[in-house]
Amino acid sequence: MSALILFGGGGDLALRMLLPSLYFLDHDGLLDPELKIIAAARSDETRDAYIERVRASVEPRAKSDDVWSDETWTRLAARLDYVALDATSADELKALKAKTGDGSVTAFMAVSPSLYGRIVPAMHAAGLAGPDTRIVLEKPVGRDLESFREIDDAVSAVFDERQVFRIDHYLGKETVQNLIALRFGNTIFEPLWNNLTIDHVQITVAETVAVGDRWPYYDEYGALRDMLQNHMLQLLCLVAMEPPSNIDADSVRNEKVKVLRSLRPITVEEAGRVTTRGQYTDYVSERGAPTDTETFVAIRADIDNWRWAGVPFFMRTGKCMAEKRTEIVIQFKPVPHSIFGRDGSSYRGAIQPNRMIIELQPDEDISLEVMNKQPGLDQRMQLQPITMSLSWGHNDRKASPPRRRIAYERLLLDAMAGDSTLFVRRDEAEEAWKWVDEVSDAWDGAAMKVEPYEGGSWGPEAADLLLSRTGRRWSSHER
Ligand code: BG6
Repeated sequence: MSALILFGGGGDLALRMLLPSLYFLDHDGLLDPELKIIAAARSDETRDAYIERVRASVEPRAKSDDVWSDETWTRLAARLDYVALDATSADELKALKAKTGDGSVTAFMAVSPSLYGRIVPAMHAAGLAGPDTRIVLEKPVGRDLESFREIDDAVSAVFDERQVFRIDHYLGKETVQNLIALRFGNTIFEPLWNNLTIDHVQITVAETVAVGDRWPYYDEYGALRDMLQNHMLQLLCLVAMEPPSNIDADSVRNEKVKVLRSLRPITVEEAGRVTTRGQYTDYVSERGAPTDTETFVAIRADIDNWRWAGVPFFMRTGKCMAEKRTEIVIQFKPVPHSIFGRDGSSYRGAIQPNRMIIELQPDEDISLEVMNKQPGLDQRMQLQPITMSLSWGHNDRKASPPRRRIAYERLLLDAMAGDSTLFVRRDEAEEAWKWVDEVSDAWDGAAMKVEPYEGGSWGPEAADLLLSRTGRRWSSHER
């Protein structure tokens, strides 16, 4: 028997993401038949009441994906147990230990990270931290390098690095993994993947949701720490890293660390030119008082190495924006010379530089924009951009598309199997924090205030200037 403990099993993350993920995995026959799932939380609830709450969350989700089955539900419910306890107490954890059996144990921390440093020693004292135990940590671990280290040290005092699984749920997204397949499963892209051919890269994570009642968390973290330190830097690393020699965890993560170490620090002098902080105009009324929290951030990052020298990576993320859209745009250089006339723009169909668009949300797609001849007998050849879609549906129209998975499905499966390729290693998290701390210090040093932006827009004007100053535009302005 193996066991999965969900600390914080009654909370939002567990009910909204983890348990539906486990349902889908069970439905697809991917869970160990012997797996027991033990939810642990403070609230004094019975197992039956808890299972009802789980069903209320899982059933609508499974039905909307058309994969609800009473059989799967009965199987999942039979695996589930609920223990009301204080997870920081070793004595109370001993009772939990008795339920885990002799097999491997995976403990998922779906609780406030401020508790990690108290739960882990209690697990140790309760005999719940054996060599076969794995611990999964949800973000945010700390709010800067120092606090990250403090929490992580408490975990590392008990668990080896190979037992620690730091989650960044973006790494569980199908398209993010497909980016690795695309870059290293083909020969045609890699020779172009450098500063000779690529002009710049844009990474956008735009959300339409407001911060809402998460404002106490947002006031402490802001968009820089909530989104850029983790999700966006991970995307940047996967685009920019050198080919690893192997897909194993350390080979991939070694390459990502090198990218993070090559990020040029943002200085006080540069901060105003290469970064923008924004806040949507309703934020103040939502939280009831003015504050300098950024709900939007845009940054130009430069990677100082041979491959990327001179290729800016523009990143932006924000709440309350015009669209929910997550994409990476690889913008290639323009043709060196147009044979279709000196001024490409005097033609219907000026020559547009090629672009590869890796879309994570709302749809999952990888596409390539290339110039093509417009059909017809025009005396002078007319060009038009066409989009070659590399997406699954486009290539196999007969079969129904695969279900869009929750990122946690992949990650739960990997953590239980002990594969940490898609998890963040300690030195990676440290390097990301180092760079983000420098950005934050530069903001303080330059006294950079947030710029207001209207909800439903693409962020403050200053973010557009960040690109237009270099003769470029955000891809969202070209649709
Ligand atoms: C979380 C952030 O990590 O990612 C949230 O804390 C954000 O603020 C969310 O909304 C976005 O995730 P996704 O998968 O919807 O892009």
